[in-house]
Amino acid sequence: MIKIAPSLLSADFTKLGDEIISVSSADYLHFDVMDGIFVPNISIGLPVLSSVRKTTDMALDAHLMIAAPARYTARFAQAGADIVVFHVEAETGENILAAIGELHKLGKKAGLSIKPGTPAEALQPYIETLDLVLVMTVEPGFGGQEFIAAALPKIQELRHEIDRRGLVCEIEVDGGINPETAKLCIDAGANVLVAGSDIFKSPDRSARIAALRSAATVN
Ligand code: DX5
Ligand code: ZN
Repeated sequence: MIKIAPSLLSADFTKLGDEIISVSSADYLHFDVMDGIFVPNISIGLPVLSSVRKTTDMALDAHLMIAAPARYTARFAQAGADIVVFHVEAETGENILAAIGELHKLGKKAGLSIKPGTPAEALQPYIETLDLVLVMTVEPGFGGQEFIAAALPKIQELRHEIDRRGLVCEIEVDGGINPETAKLCIDAGANVLVAGSDIFKSPDRSARIAALRSAATVN
């Protein structure tokens, strides 16, 4: 099943509650956390996540684009994230495994992400323990960028590996997703599509979510 995750980064923060309601036909709510160190931008964090948690029953997918993320993975889980995704480039192997274990102990899902320049193999040591892998299809830091097609072979590689090992691990893509690029990603093996500008720029969010969801069946 294809899941859609609208990225709140593109929402109008002056009316966040209404913006969340407008995308309630989606599956996950994608929450981008940036620290100005791991990426050259600063976004939203724990207090906003706690408020969002109170307004929706949607699964919250927190994408931590921060340095040394293991310091904060449990905090985001406790603040109400259902899935906490952090970057393999930002942490040591030991801390990555500890953070995944901690998230599972809290009854949460753990995800690990790779930037466009990071090979899929970087996820191999952790893949057995992960609930989700996030393949960035733009350089993390900003919404509204152009899709990087060079990410597609990495999605294929991960899909092959996950199926070969019989793992239950979702493949999420994030950046430059619209119905056209969504199809490329689904064909490559992704099943969770993050979309910020494509959904929030549209006056009819439900229609846009439906268009992304059915992208796989479009020629
Ligand atoms: C970028 C973020 C994305 C961003 C996607 O670093 O991780 O989630 O909001 O935005 P679009 O869909 O506009 O490329
Ligand atoms: Zn994101």
